[in-house]
Amino acid sequence: MAKKFRVGLIGYKFMGRAHSNAWRQAPKFFDLKTNVEMHTICGRDTAAVQAARAKLGWQFAVADWREVVESPLIDIVDIGTPTFTHAEIAIAALKHGKHVLCEKPLGRDLKECEAMYAAAKKAKVVHMVCHNYRRIPAIALAKRMMTEGALGKIYHFRARYAQDRLADSEFPLDWRLKKETSGSGVHSDINSHIIDLARYLVGEFTEVCGIVHTFVPERPRAELLTKGKRQYGKVTAPDSAAFIGWLEGGVMANLEATRYALGRRNHIEVEINGSKGSIYFDFEDMNKLKFYNGEDPKDRQGFRDILVTQRDGVQPYVTNWWPPGHGIGYEHTFVHAVADFVNACADGKPVQPTFEDGLKNQRVLTAVEKSSAVGKWVKV
Ligand SMILES: NC(=O)c1ccc[n+]([C@@H]2O[C@H](COP(=O)([O-])OP(=O)(O)OC[C@H]3O[C@@H](n4cnc5c(N)ncnc54)[C@H](O)[C@@H]3O)[C@@H](O)[C@H]2O)c1
Repeated sequence: MAKKFRVGLIGYKFMGRAHSNAWRQAPKFFDLKTNVEMHTICGRDTAAVQAARAKLGWQFAVADWREVVESPLIDIVDIGTPTFTHAEIAIAALKHGKHVLCEKPLGRDLKECEAMYAAAKKAKVVHMVCHNYRRIPAIALAKRMMTEGALGKIYHFRARYAQDRLADSEFPLDWRLKKETSGSGVHSDINSHIIDLARYLVGEFTEVCGIVHTFVPERPRAELLTKGKRQYGKVTAPDSAAFIGWLEGGVMANLEATRYALGRRNHIEVEINGSKGSIYFDFEDMNKLKFYNGEDPKDRQGFRDILVTQRDGVQPYVTNWWPPGHGIGYEHTFVHAVADFVNACADGKPVQPTFEDGLKNQRVLTAVEKSSAVGKWVKV
């Protein structure tokens, strides 16, 4: 086995926990081409990051991300901080020759994403955006089936990412609802995930027509709520978005992202219709892929449930987990992402979605915002 990769992770909250778990589990369940060492975790609050270090399994903790990206001991920088920090941290890490795994969306806008991709190209290292939903076994199987032509000529791609926490108008104004910290709010936060699925499963967007909107214009400021004060601030980023578009090859697309879908906690659904069949995926039932084969005998046609848990290489990723029928969950998607990323670093080969994919994703996000502003179709 080649040298060991020492990892530095920035951020210890939601994604910090998900990524720490992935770094812990990947070497235990996958035959990685290189050993990994969970070296340093970083967060601004010294006491909290020390607690996270002990709990999440890191050796060292620091309060300034520059210590991680500049350290000669670190080989991989993993960015799990809010979107407004991605560009500065990633570009600095790339300049120091680190391989970089960065949470989505890649940056806040086209300018940041272009700079990040340019830095990545120049650094000649491995770079990846953490669109983990690509690595759900059912989605990876859908990709395989599409590549093999199981659906024939593709007509429609439709996807919806729906949550409901903003339906409470008193939900706090956090970094995700401000333009300067999130880029474009719910649009870039969760539409970026299903744009990634469209690009992965079908191809590039060529033209879009969309609406982005903010339903609740003011919310209690999060940083004051923690101090017991209730003061309202302006929501400056979209809290919902929907668009239609054309994907290459004349595929019609419609995508929607919202946090106002009461009853939907983390609902991601994808349906693709082709000349020979359809597939349907629902994240709330993530171990299954529904497949309709138009070539089935007429008397038994219907969507079938493919339980994506078959081992021995039959279905993607699941060989490394449990016996057939023993499902996996959200956290496994990050383990798959980390395992693929580490092997790519060992091989010195690109692994998708790269920073170039992050930039292409941003082009779609930006085109939708532009379309909403001008009320017209916009080329991507
Ligand atoms: N792939 C996914 O499914 C998924 C899910 C949620 C969030 N995300 C993305 O992950 C990123 C982080 O989101 P989150 O939900 O974990 O946010 P969070 O608010 O839960 O955590 C952010 C972390 O970053 C730290 N942080 C903020 N600024 C910092 C700085 N300057 N230096 C060091 N640490 C800093 C905070 O202390 C905290 O530990 C975002 O870009 C978000 O879009 C991805």
